[in-house]
Amino acid sequence: MNATHSSQDAILRIRDLSAGYGLVQVLQSVSLDVRTAEFLALVGGNGAGKTTLLRTLSGLLPVQSGTIEWNGRPVGGLTPDTIFRLGIVQVPEGRQLFPRMSVQDNLLMGAYRRDDKAEVRADLDKVYGLFPRMAERRRQLAGSMSGGEQQMCAMARALMARPRLLLVDEMSLGLAPIIVDQLMENLIEIRDQGVTILLVEQDIHLALAAADRAYVLETGRIVREGPARDLIEDPELKRAYLGV
Ligand SMILES: Nc1ncnc2c1ncn2[C@@H]1O[C@H](COP(=O)(O)OP(=O)(O)OP(=O)(O)O)[C@@H](O)[C@H]1O
Ligand SMILES: [Mg+2]
Repeated sequence: MNATHSSQDAILRIRDLSAGYGLVQVLQSVSLDVRTAEFLALVGGNGAGKTTLLRTLSGLLPVQSGTIEWNGRPVGGLTPDTIFRLGIVQVPEGRQLFPRMSVQDNLLMGAYRRDDKAEVRADLDKVYGLFPRMAERRRQLAGSMSGGEQQMCAMARALMARPRLLLVDEMSLGLAPIIVDQLMENLIEIRDQGVTILLVEQDIHLALAAADRAYVLETGRIVREGPARDLIEDPELKRAYLGV
């Protein structure tokens, strides 16, 4: 595998990254580039280390070794707050909304770091344009909505932070296929508006169908990378993940 090619336009550049929990090393020398304004998928089975990678990128887990560069600047070891301010924003696994707050208050929580009130208002309208269902339900308690609506709310909240890179963890988990298709369309639209996307997904077929490029992670190591349409045709991946 050649992980070093065409990294000039990488917004995020990860080299030989090892990370995990205490003495436990989960990620084993991971190298990965996220290119500006692409929709990148990181796929792999249960326990492969996908969430561990996102948590390390967000500064929630320490870097054991290796480097993470954001626009050429090292960001490994910075605090989660600093990383968030740089524009790296996570939509966490399980959504983690404030269930007893309204949809709109959840969205405003995404902008709590911003003091440009007029622009926050304008962004709220923009986000409601992208997720009309959230506009309809702006006064409803977030915890009372369906799983798909809660996922939309979590994505909309992240957008209120004006991310440059959106990290999305297991968006499809537990949702009906028709809802997942809608959410994938939303991600593509967000990408088209210039936000770079890194989607982590167990459902490799789903991710490869929507993403521009993908990496496959197995027990903490990258075992494949390439354009999503090539990986869909990869015979070994078909055997291992796609059941054909
Ligand atoms: N808090 C923790 N402490 C110790 N080990 C952990 C912790 N969280 C996860 N692990 C271990 O790290 C490994 C990778 O877990 P991780 O959650 O990153 O996988 P994943 O690819 O996100 O899986 P899934 O698709 O199930 O979400 C697993 O072996 C897991 O048991
Ligand atoms: Mg996970």
